[in-house]
Amino acid sequence: MSGEFDEAYRCSIEDPEGFWAEAAQGIDWIEPWDQVLDDSKSPFTRWFVGAKVNTCWNALDRHVEGGRADQLALIHDSPITGSQTKFTFRELRDAVALFAGALAARGVGKGDRVIVYMPMVPEAAIAMLACARLGAVHSVVFGGFAANELAVRIDDCQPKAIVSASCGIEPTRIIEYKPLLDGAIEMAKHKVGTCMVLQRPQCAATMVEGRDHDWAEAVATAEPADCVPVLATDPLYILYTSGTTGRPKGVMRDNGGHLVALNWSMKNVYGVEPGEVYWAASDVGWVVGHSYIVYAPLIHGNTTILFEGKPVGTPDAGVFWRIIAEHGVTTLFTAPTAFRAIKKEDPDGKLIGQYDLSKFRTLFLAGERSDPDTLVWAETKLKVPVIDHWWQTESGWPMAANCIGIERLPIKHGSPTRAVPGYDVQVVDDACRPIKRGDIGSIVVKLPLPPGCLPTLWNADQRFIDAYMADFPGFYKTGDAGFMDDDNYVYVMTRTDDVINVAGHRLSTGGMEEVLSAHPDVAECAVIGVNDQMKGQVPVGFLVLKAGVNKPHEEIVAEVVKLVRERIGPVAAFKLATVVPRLPKTRSGKILRGTMQKIANVEEHKVPATIDDPGVLPEIAEALKGIGYAGG
Ligand code: COA
Ligand code: AMP
Repeated sequence: MSGEFDEAYRCSIEDPEGFWAEAAQGIDWIEPWDQVLDDSKSPFTRWFVGAKVNTCWNALDRHVEGGRADQLALIHDSPITGSQTKFTFRELRDAVALFAGALAARGVGKGDRVIVYMPMVPEAAIAMLACARLGAVHSVVFGGFAANELAVRIDDCQPKAIVSASCGIEPTRIIEYKPLLDGAIEMAKHKVGTCMVLQRPQCAATMVEGRDHDWAEAVATAEPADCVPVLATDPLYILYTSGTTGRPKGVMRDNGGHLVALNWSMKNVYGVEPGEVYWAASDVGWVVGHSYIVYAPLIHGNTTILFEGKPVGTPDAGVFWRIIAEHGVTTLFTAPTAFRAIKKEDPDGKLIGQYDLSKFRTLFLAGERSDPDTLVWAETKLKVPVIDHWWQTESGWPMAANCIGIERLPIKHGSPTRAVPGYDVQVVDDACRPIKRGDIGSIVVKLPLPPGCLPTLWNADQRFIDAYMADFPGFYKTGDAGFMDDDNYVYVMTRTDDVINVAGHRLSTGGMEEVLSAHPDVAECAVIGVNDQMKGQVPVGFLVLKAGVNKPHEEIVAEVVKLVRERIGPVAAFKLATVVPRLPKTRSGKILRGTMQKIANVEEHKVPATIDDPGVLPEIAEALKGIGYAGG
């Protein structure tokens, strides 16, 4: 080992201001900062205080002016519609400036919130960048969420406008977005005056006179808008993510720190040079889509791919290889679940051989734990380094990775390698004491968090403290548990809260329990995540019925499954529930979800000493066997 990584890491921890001030040279500032780091109100850390900047300028205009005007900026590859659209940096800048003009003409300006509820079309990225151009704050809501979830977000961030589309396209059906949007606006207390709707050829949306505007018509009459200077510490976006309850947390991202961190990560974490083609196969509704489909590649001068399709079935398990070959992708980033899906369809990787992957250098995986089987399969079949890396919506960019742009460290299967420069990752016990290497504890990050991480939650400073900063004073609680080995490699094993990871999507079991409890026949319930070969985890619900309910259990189960789909959305993948006579609890009444999960997954478990009645556990095992778990 040459020690370059150790040296970079040491500098970032010992002199964060010097380290990030140097990284900030990669960004165009309108006015320089007065202070690199203001930690006087910790845990509310502020980076590049006093500086003025515009994120859209850095993602587009500066490349147009700096010699990349004719380089491809964005390729929309949509096997699901059989189309491809390409934008050079100049074309994308012009499209963004026009849409920003259309928004501005409808009163959207600096600081206003704009919800973006769109499928994977280029207009989703254009809408995000247009907001950034105006200094407006976007909040993208994943298309797989139901109207109710959209309504909750409308009420929380109170948008001036919503940008949407007539439909999204899933392999088996067309999802009409407009009825969901209309339903959400109807449900929300906050009233939205303006909706911009992209009419897709696959289905036309009915417009509400006066409120809804056709995207194409609005753009046809718009004047291009210029970039509006904002403070580095002003919000760029809000992205809602699942927490312990059904009320999502509005993770806020600022402009300056985000620009610096993402730009730095492209070279140093991903080992990518400007001009190369980078592909994050995710969705703009998730943090991966924000950071690595839209912002980071463009800020860094890369061509990004916006993929509207699935890893399998659009049309087959070779679509990833087709895209890599056709567009000359050097770096792919996706979730392990996508690879599990491909491996299942094409176990011998026969389709890989049909494509020229000579430009392809590295595969990055994140979003959930990478199981070694999938990882080894990808390594063997693709013959490139496969790098597991760990991060979350709150961080916005990787917290642990093999930073191949600095120095490629040896890969250890099961570990996302080491803490990335800027992150002082530690593993502690409940009393916040460092624990022995190899022992599992809570994974925390010593404050201050580096640039790009959430400065707070939208309009919820106290919740920010309660959720992340209160349990381990001086540290940020990641919500993950795991351990570190003697080489400082991090191992992320499980969540410490009620969050589960379904096909790389972060979901709250607490949120699902709130929906189940709303069913009139349900007295009590619990939702746990059980292991799933394809999706990593899937939710399973346990229902205790109210006394005197005589309805057939299958009927109630079908109703709660429908209810979760209606209230949270299809993305929850909630398809399994079972009726049980009672739930296992501690003597103080806490439901033993962890023990239930171990029984479901046939993992070794001890009967907790605090259990109220051990006789409940065999009943749970029986019920689980009935739906194919617990060895049944
Ligand atoms: N709009 C509406 N519905 C959506 C949607 C969207 N944008 N995205 C997904 N859904 C629906 C799906 O149609 C599906 O509905 P169904 O229950 O009627 O089949 C449900 O939500 C679950 O979707 P998904 O998680 O995509 O599962 P799947 O079974 O359709 O596909 C995989 C499985 C593995 C192929 C898929 O999950 C995948 O590509 N995963 C990659 C994950 C990823 O990119 N994660 C981001 C983090 S890096
Ligand atoms: P999200 O906020 O949706 O990106 O989800 C973040 C969560 O996904 C983390 O807190 C982890 O629980 C999990 N996660 C992400 N990447 C990894 C990884 N490489 N290994 C294990 N878990 C991961």
